[in-house]
Amino acid sequence: MTENGLISLAEVYKDYFKIGAAVTVNDLVRLHGELLKKHFNSLTAENAMKFGEIHPSEDRFDFEKADKMMEFAKSNHLKMRGHTFVWHNQTSDWIFLDTNGKEASKELVIDRLRKHVEVICNRYKDIVYTWDVVNEAIEDKTGEQYRDTKWRRILGEDYIKTVFEIVKEQDDKAELVYNDYNNEQPEKLEKTYRMLEEMLHKGAPIDSVGIQAHWSIRDSNLMDDLKRAIERYASLGLKIQVTEMDVSMFEFEDKRKDILEPTTEMLYLQEQAYHNIFSVFREYKELVTSVTFWGISDRYTWKDNFPVRGRKDWPMLFDMKGEKKSSFEKIVDFI
Ligand code: G3I
Repeated sequence: MTENGLISLAEVYKDYFKIGAAVTVNDLVRLHGELLKKHFNSLTAENAMKFGEIHPSEDRFDFEKADKMMEFAKSNHLKMRGHTFVWHNQTSDWIFLDTNGKEASKELVIDRLRKHVEVICNRYKDIVYTWDVVNEAIEDKTGEQYRDTKWRRILGEDYIKTVFEIVKEQDDKAELVYNDYNNEQPEKLEKTYRMLEEMLHKGAPIDSVGIQAHWSIRDSNLMDDLKRAIERYASLGLKIQVTEMDVSMFEFEDKRKDILEPTTEMLYLQEQAYHNIFSVFREYKELVTSVTFWGISDRYTWKDNFPVRGRKDWPMLFDMKGEKKSSFEKIVDFI
C-alpha cells in the first residue's frame, strides 16, 4: 500500500464503489480542484443541472456551468451523476403553465419534460453514468404516502413510472435512480418500499435507490436502519447509491449557534460515525455502486445554512484547510 500521505480515497475504494462529490464550478480549481482530482472519480452538480438552473425558460437552456463540470470530468477521467430531472424544488414554473398562464395539461407537461430530458441526455450521457430521475417524492408526514407536488397533480398517480420511462427512452445504459432522504428510517423506508414495489410491478425501469445520507454524529440506530434499508431495497432487485452524504456535527433539532469550531468530542463522534458507516457500505459492496459526498471540505457546505442559516458546520472528511480529518483516516484504515 502507498504511504498514507499519498492515499487516494477513490483508489482505496476502487474495488468497492465509486467515490463522488457534489460540486459548484468554483470547486473545479485551486484546493478543491486538487482534492477532486486526487480523491474522487465521480462528480455531481450540486445545483447546476437542476431543472430551474439548466432550463430557466422554455426556449433557453443554460449549459455553461454543467459544461465546465463535464470538461473537468473528461480531462481528469471522472464520471458524473446527473442530478436531477423531477423534483418539487428548483424547478422552473414555466413547465407547469400553458400560454394563457393556466395550469398546463398532462400532455403538454409530458411533451416538455420529454424534450428537456432528450436535450440533457444527448449532451451529457457520454459522461453521466447514472441519473437521479425522481427526487424526494415520498411524504414525510405520517399516514400520507406521496408528497403533493405539481408533477404528481398534473401527471397523475403513476407519474414516477412515466418519468422513468421517459429517461430510459433517451439513455438505456445509465443506472436510473429514485433518490430521497431519511429513506433508511423505518417509516419512510416502508413507504418507499411500497412505492418502488408498485412501480416495478407496473414495469417502471428503476435500477437503484439513492439514499441521500444527510446524517449527524448523534444519529441513533443508524447502522441497524441502514443495513435493514439496504437489504429491503435489494430484495426488490435494486442497487443502492449513497448520493449526498454528510455527517453534521449537530442533530437536526439542535439549533445552538455558540459553537465556533468543532470540539474534540464532536470530532471523535464524527470519526466513529464515518468508521461505522463505511464498514456497512463495504459489507454491502455488491449492492452499493457509488458513495457521493455532498461537498468536498468543511470550507463550503450547504449545512452552513441548514437547518440554521449562517451557522458553521463541519460535516466533511477534509477540514477548513483541505487537510484530511481523523474521519478520513478511519475510512481508509481497513486495508
Ligand atoms: O441561484 C441563486 C443566486 O442567483 C442567488 O444570488 C443566491 C442568493 O442566495 O441564491 C442562489 O440560489 C441558491 C441555490 O442553492 C444555488 O446556489 C438558493 O438560494 C439555495 O436555496 C440553493 O440551495 C440548494 C438546495 O439544494 C436547494 O433546495 C443547495 O445549494 C443544495 O446543496 C441543495 O441540495 C439538495 C439536493 O439537490 C437534493 N437533496 C437535498 C439537498 C440539500 O438540500
